[in-house]
Amino acid sequence: MKLKQLFLSLLPLVGSVYAQVAAPYTDSGNGFIFDGITDPVYHVTYGIVLPQASTSSEFIGEFVAPLSAKWIGLALGGAMIGDLLIVAWPNGNDIVSTTRYATAYALPDVYEGPTITTLPSSAVNSTHWKFVFRCQNCTSWEGGGGIDPTGTGVFAWAYSSVGVDDPSDPGSTFQEHTDFGFFGINFPDAQSSNYQNYLQGNPGTPTSVPSGPSSTTTTTTTGPTASATPFDYIVVGAGPGGIIAADRLSEAGKKVLLLERGGPSTAETGGTYDAPWTKSANLTKFDVPGLFESMFTDPNVWWWCKDTNFFAGCLLGGGTSVNGALYWLPAQSDFSTGNGWPSSWGNHQPYTDKLKQRLPSTDHPSTDGQRYLEQSADVVSQLLKAQGYSQITINDNPDYKDHVYGYSAFDFINGERAGPVATTTRT
Ligand SMILES: *[C@@H]1O[C@H](CO)[C@@H](O)[C@H](O)[C@H]1NC(C)=O
Ligand SMILES: *[C@@H]1O[C@H](CO)[C@@H](O)[C@H](O)[C@H]1NC(C)=O
Ligand SMILES: *[C@@H]1O[C@H](CO)[C@@H](O)[C@H](O)[C@H]1NC(C)=O
Repeated sequence: MKLKQLFLSLLPLVGSVYAQVAAPYTDSGNGFIFDGITDPVYHVTYGIVLPQASTSSEFIGEFVAPLSAKWIGLALGGAMIGDLLIVAWPNGNDIVSTTRYATAYALPDVYEGPTITTLPSSAVNSTHWKFVFRCQNCTSWEGGGGIDPTGTGVFAWAYSSVGVDDPSDPGSTFQEHTDFGFFGINFPDAQSSNYQNYLQGNPGTPTSVPSGPSSTTTTTTTGPTASATPFDYIVVGAGPGGIIAADRLSEAGKKVLLLERGGPSTAETGGTYDAPWTKSANLTKFDVPGLFESMFTDPNVWWWCKDTNFFAGCLLGGGTSVNGALYWLPAQSDFSTGNGWPSSWGNHQPYTDKLKQRLPSTDHPSTDGQRYLEQSADVVSQLLKAQGYSQITINDNPDYKDHVYGYSAFDFINGERAGPVATTTRT
């Protein structure tokens, strides 16, 4: 729970952060006051209300979704793996629901233990389906996870535009979600003295709460009003595009201010989010290539932007600080007029050379020059060689794309993540 608390307590610190955090709203249909969000892209509302007794192990939840949402899921601990998952979909005029549990990024198994009861204000109409449910034995689950009603947490939602295989069967198989996202929640804010009334289907004593969920919470700072600035350009966003644009402008003698709403990433930029064993080496998890997989499973994934529904890094370096760092130099054909580019773009070589000089690629990133765990490369190369493919160093031959293979190229330098944060900001 500690890390999750850190997640929420960081929000006010990050100045102009723009993240989805649950806020109270009144469902105008049943009059219940939930704590929740509406995601800004699919307009699905996710709400929860808890009883006041902190010893209780149940809550009431709701999903309100347009009919284009074929199924909706909620991970109560903020991750797909190792959390209680609630999945629901419409089937005619009914809502079908299921509790699931995943131990891998694969179809989650049906999970026994929690009891879900569909409450009467659930409905399907010509535009939406609404699932209001009581979830009992739902605040702790296998593997030690749970909801602390006195603390904070992170929920993950999943959305699919593709229906489940058999909508009448709660145990149905279904395909991977088409999208997902996260929101923070402060559970005490979700407690209601009207909980027992809600179970009976009545809203109880109304309390004054703004109607309609707030889709996003903006923490605005009362900063100084901008007047004339000493800058020629202000670049907003220090991802690869922003860093390089700012660098090109400053090379041209312009005074540039580069703004980033997220925090630092690598140790060199002042980042401190490290794996315990990297502390003494002054490395954060953004420096260590091998920690890439943990970008998705870490209990505190603060680096993913919370206001977009695709993976985007909200920290210095943007996506290049959190991606797998695969790095391919462009083929001449990428710039051809046949692909719609202006003919002057064919002259990319001097720019590509400059990029290569600053940001070399490597297909053997370990500092000892060795390659490890080569089993799959060996198997694939035996198959390809037998069919007449030749092995090349891919980035030495960017124009050879036919019947060739080689090791993946990465933008790592000295065994650490490089990219524009390391190579452009340093100069
Ligand atoms: C509650 O759920 C757990 C699984 O999360 C299960 O092992 C347990 O038997 C359930 N308890 C009751 C009372 O149903
Ligand atoms: C259908 O349900 C949604 C969600 O509950 C509601 O906002 C909308 O007004 C309903 N539409 C009609 C035509 O009743
Ligand atoms: C880590 O950074 C600190 C502060 O900049 C410095 O004093 C220390 O020598 C560095 N340690 C290593 C192993 O580089």
